[in-house]
Amino acid sequence: MFETLKIFHMFAIMGLGASGIGGGILMARARRAGGKLPDYVRSTMRTVVMIGVGSAVLMWITGFGMVLGHDVTFGLWFSLKLLGSAAVLVASAVLAIAVTRSAASGQMPEARTMQLLMRAGQVGMTLALVFGVIAFS
Ligand code: HEM
Repeated sequence: MFETLKIFHMFAIMGLGASGIGGGILMARARRAGGKLPDYVRSTMRTVVMIGVGSAVLMWITGFGMVLGHDVTFGLWFSLKLLGSAAVLVASAVLAIAVTRSAASGQMPEARTMQLLMRAGQVGMTLALVFGVIAFS
């Protein structure tokens, strides 16, 4: 069971990485282009953001599952990993809400805010990854 959870934990990292890098590039380009974005760009953004929030939720579910069935010490490194993971979850959830609301109104959320949230998620992801490896080495 632990191995299965850890495999899905790693798949979730892939999803977050893809969403963080792809979304970051997409939002930077959208911000530079300005004006109204074509429909296919907006729907791509929505998909990328949804992959991110889905992966963040999967990360927490599999993480909790592993904590329950394992002897995990809640030291400094693990706490920093959780802090980074929380930043990822919050940033991706806010992005998902913003993108869903904008889809209903037909307008994209403000590009600068989207890019800032994406950046916050990327920083959180880096913390979670680095301190995750340190915590379990
Ligand atoms: C963005 C969020 C996260 C990232 C990037 C991340 C990253 C990682 C990485 C790279 C490992 C492998 C470490 C190693 O075996 O050396 C790992 C394992 C693990 N993570 Fe996460 N993690 C995240 C969220 C979480 C959360 C929220 C929890 C708990 C609630 C959690 C609990 C665990 C546990 C228990 C392990 C297994 C350690 C072991 O093999 O003994 N992770 N994580």
